[in-house]
Amino acid sequence: MSKIKAALFHGAKQPLAIEQVEIDQPQAREVLVRTVAAGVCHSDLHFVEGLYPLAGLALLGHESAGVVEEVGDRVTYVKPGDHVIACLSVFCGHCDQCLSGHPNRCSNRAELQRAATDRPRISQDGKPVIQFADIGGYAEKMLLHENAVVKITKEMPLDRAALIGCGVTTGVGAALNTAKVEPGSTVAVFGAGGIGLAAIQGARIAGARRIIAVDVFENKLAMAKRLGATDTVDASSADPVKTIKAMTGGGVDYSFEAIGLKTAAEQAFYCLAPGGTATVIGMIPVGQKVEIEGRYFLTERKLQGCNMGSNRFRIDMPRYIDFYMQGRLNLDDMVSRKARLDGVNEAFRAMKAGEVARTVLMFDN
Ligand SMILES: NC(=O)c1ccc[n+]([C@@H]2O[C@H](COP(=O)([O-])OP(=O)(O)OC[C@H]3O[C@@H](n4cnc5c(N)ncnc54)[C@H](O)[C@@H]3O)[C@@H](O)[C@H]2O)c1
Ligand SMILES: [Zn+2]
Ligand SMILES: [Zn+2]
Repeated sequence: MSKIKAALFHGAKQPLAIEQVEIDQPQAREVLVRTVAAGVCHSDLHFVEGLYPLAGLALLGHESAGVVEEVGDRVTYVKPGDHVIACLSVFCGHCDQCLSGHPNRCSNRAELQRAATDRPRISQDGKPVIQFADIGGYAEKMLLHENAVVKITKEMPLDRAALIGCGVTTGVGAALNTAKVEPGSTVAVFGAGGIGLAAIQGARIAGARRIIAVDVFENKLAMAKRLGATDTVDASSADPVKTIKAMTGGGVDYSFEAIGLKTAAEQAFYCLAPGGTATVIGMIPVGQKVEIEGRYFLTERKLQGCNMGSNRFRIDMPRYIDFYMQGRLNLDDMVSRKARLDGVNEAFRAMKAGEVARTVLMFDN
């Protein structure tokens, strides 16, 4: 058991608090990772804002990379000193979802956590702390199941690697794995934040001929162009559906919602060409319904969900690192700001204000 600094969630609509917590030693298949970098993803903010429920004291953060410090006695995959990215898509490897090639949908997560009767991985003054997404990345160390990490080359800078932990894997994966964007196709991406910019890059890597970025901030649209968008639509002044239909002569083949808004999910569907596919990545607030006029299904338009870019992260993440190393995936421009752990609340504010693609919290001295 050691003491570490962490950003703790005490309840919705309150800033995260920087406090000490206790982190346990690794058990059989667990690894203790020294966090080097943690990206600030909008999913955490949805919980802080109370749009998704979280009951009790919790340690947020789920987009982190670091160095393995200690491993449990049955760990075979990594050793101390290895560089790793953590991923919330912890997989058991033997359930129907895992065995049919969908480990991101593993139905056996409880097996990969500690039992309620065990000592908690993270605690504060003897009280258990919820380890958000089985990671808890806003902390100096993370205690993870070995199936929650991928080993990466030491040549990969860990601040860029952290982004791959959620945003890049989700956005690029939405294009390559979930929607399977075809070369020569047309694409619209709603929201040019961390996830949307990654989806734009995924569509570019897939060879889409037209990639239309939709956002409400000029700076986000400029960034989208730098990362591969061929066209932009400012949704604060134009109707995105009408504009996209006019631009493409009837609609796009693929669209992505990367905001978490009911209206944007509906717009993503209505801007499709017949036969097109809309992929909703954003976390629509709990209880809200997405409404689609039924007759559009007669033209074979499709609406689908996306969980973490349909990843098989131990295969996908090293591929994305290769893309980065080859200059085909731009992560440098996606790190807009760096901050320390106590800058997490300011990072949420900057994200809401549309000032950043990503803030990355750095733990190195
Ligand atoms: N499905 C998954 O597995 C998964 C994984 C990660 C994140 N997410 C979700 O993806 C969403 C995006 O996350 P992010 O980190 O990129 O957030 P972000 O805040 O960085 O980006 C959202 C972008 O949407 C833009 N926007 C806001 N309102 C808009 C509107 N009406 N029209 C057009 N653009 C608008 C903002 O300016 C911003 O650029 C969140 O809901 C997040 O929870 C889902
Ligand atoms: Zn995320
Ligand atoms: Zn499984």
